[in-house]
Amino acid sequence: KTDDLLKNMNILITAGPTREKVDPVRYFSNYSSGKMGYAIAEEAAKLGANVTLVTGPTAISHPDFVEIIEVESAEEMLQAVLRKYDQADVVIKSAAVADYRPKYPLDKKMKKETEQLEVKMEKTTDILKTLGELKNDQLLVGFAAETNEVENYALGKLKKKNLDMIVANNVLTEGAGFGTDTNIVTIYDKYNEKIELPLMTKNEVASKLLLHVNKLLREKRK
Ligand code: PMT
Repeated sequence: KTDDLLKNMNILITAGPTREKVDPVRYFSNYSSGKMGYAIAEEAAKLGANVTLVTGPTAISHPDFVEIIEVESAEEMLQAVLRKYDQADVVIKSAAVADYRPKYPLDKKMKKETEQLEVKMEKTTDILKTLGELKNDQLLVGFAAETNEVENYALGKLKKKNLDMIVANNVLTEGAGFGTDTNIVTIYDKYNEKIELPLMTKNEVASKLLLHVNKLLREKRK
């Protein structure tokens, strides 16, 4: 068997969007449904891995045999992931984490008093970059959701965030990216290998991606 190394490994996966509060009734978020990350969690569990899934708010049902940690904001996702990072052998970050959040979230509902509204935003912590800096022996896998110059940006993130592998999708392509049951991805790893996959279900993408993780784990053992 070619994907045997994942059995009993601790795999930490993130999925879904984050929500960044404006006031008690409003937030900034994105179109992530969680389907990509949940598919990875499901397939990894089928391979016998110990899976922890840190998930932003989604409407889909939890995969079986997976430990679930529900979070809302980028900050909560960061804290949950950091708590699990030491014990993780493999980390796969498919969540669509907000890059900015409102700098001054309000305690009371905002009133409709002005014609125009400006919300001051501040950067969130880049979780994946933080994990790359803290990396001991973990195998770190990122995603890149792009609309243009996909390869350039993906390879940039692979290097900058100290990743072992990155999964790039052009989210403007029909059948790929947010919300769909399918995806079209290209895998890049730190050994300069590039694997272009055709349109397939997110579960099939998950299997292919885990097969490549298995291959990288084998490389590491040499
Ligand atoms: O959930 P679905 O509807 O199934 O959609 C799947 C998907 C499009 C969300 C998924 O395939 C995907 O591309 N996920 C990554 C989305 C993303 O935020 O990409 P990015 O290129 O902005 O970020 C690059 C990497 O850094 C990602 O691994 C992301 O998790 C991570 N990141 C980004 C910002 C941040 N503050 N912290 C992070 O860890």
